[in-house]
Amino acid sequence: MEVDSPIGIIDSGAGGLTVVKEMLRRLPQEPIIYIGDNARCPYGPRPAEEVKEFTTEMVSKLSDMGIKMLIIACNTATAVALDDIRAQFPFPVVGVIVPGARAAVQGSRLGNIAVLGTAGTINSGAYEDAIRGFSTNSVVYPLACPEFVPIVESGQYHTEYASEVVERTLLPLADVPFDAAILGCTHYPLLQEHIAKHLPAGVQIISSAVETVRDVEAILQEKQLARQSNQPAEPVFYSTGEVDAFRLIVEDWLSIDGPDVRHIVL
Ligand code: DGL
Repeated sequence: MEVDSPIGIIDSGAGGLTVVKEMLRRLPQEPIIYIGDNARCPYGPRPAEEVKEFTTEMVSKLSDMGIKMLIIACNTATAVALDDIRAQFPFPVVGVIVPGARAAVQGSRLGNIAVLGTAGTINSGAYEDAIRGFSTNSVVYPLACPEFVPIVESGQYHTEYASEVVERTLLPLADVPFDAAILGCTHYPLLQEHIAKHLPAGVQIISSAVETVRDVEAILQEKQLARQSNQPAEPVFYSTGEVDAFRLIVEDWLSIDGPDVRHIVL
């Protein structure tokens, strides 16, 4: 593994762009190859074995491209496939659940933490396990939000319809005494304007992207894999789905003009 090799980032679709955004802000010199499996998104309702299989397919492609590190920028894939992927591949692998859980435990005064995620992530109990690893006193309120990812993937995240769906989905949390909410799906920061509006005032909203990239930076230093350059690197994006639709989300969310977006078959 060479310092100038790229870092691979994967997600079921566009959600991992929230992690790419933080990478470009904090580690712009690191080359990135992103794969979004938009053609098979969402992963949330799929059986764990299928999510593991799809994740392994993406990582195998990135491994063939010679990446020096992998970020599984998908909570659903992190919840069910992180250990398997770590066992199969030689490069360091970072998931998004432990960093998000750590930030929530640090940010919650009451220790009452809501977790918003896909059905797969919520059913796995991975956030409860990670949160208890940092604090045995925390109380976790999990909520599956199955309608959120299709709204993001279809590019409707700025609409009034998105706001209505978010409001309706968050209703079960109305009388719950939490003071921190984890966006436990990397797609959800694209809906944050609506989520913030429909959660009680004063709730701290935690996206794991910032914490995850902090971990990535520490591992790059520790393994002596950090690229030594002041030149920003241009990220390359692959999608298994509609390249033009994916390009629009990349341009909007990352404010990149003419991003390098290509089609890939897994
Ligand atoms: N963005 C992903 C996550 O963080 C997956 C969403 C999905 O495909 O259902 O869980």
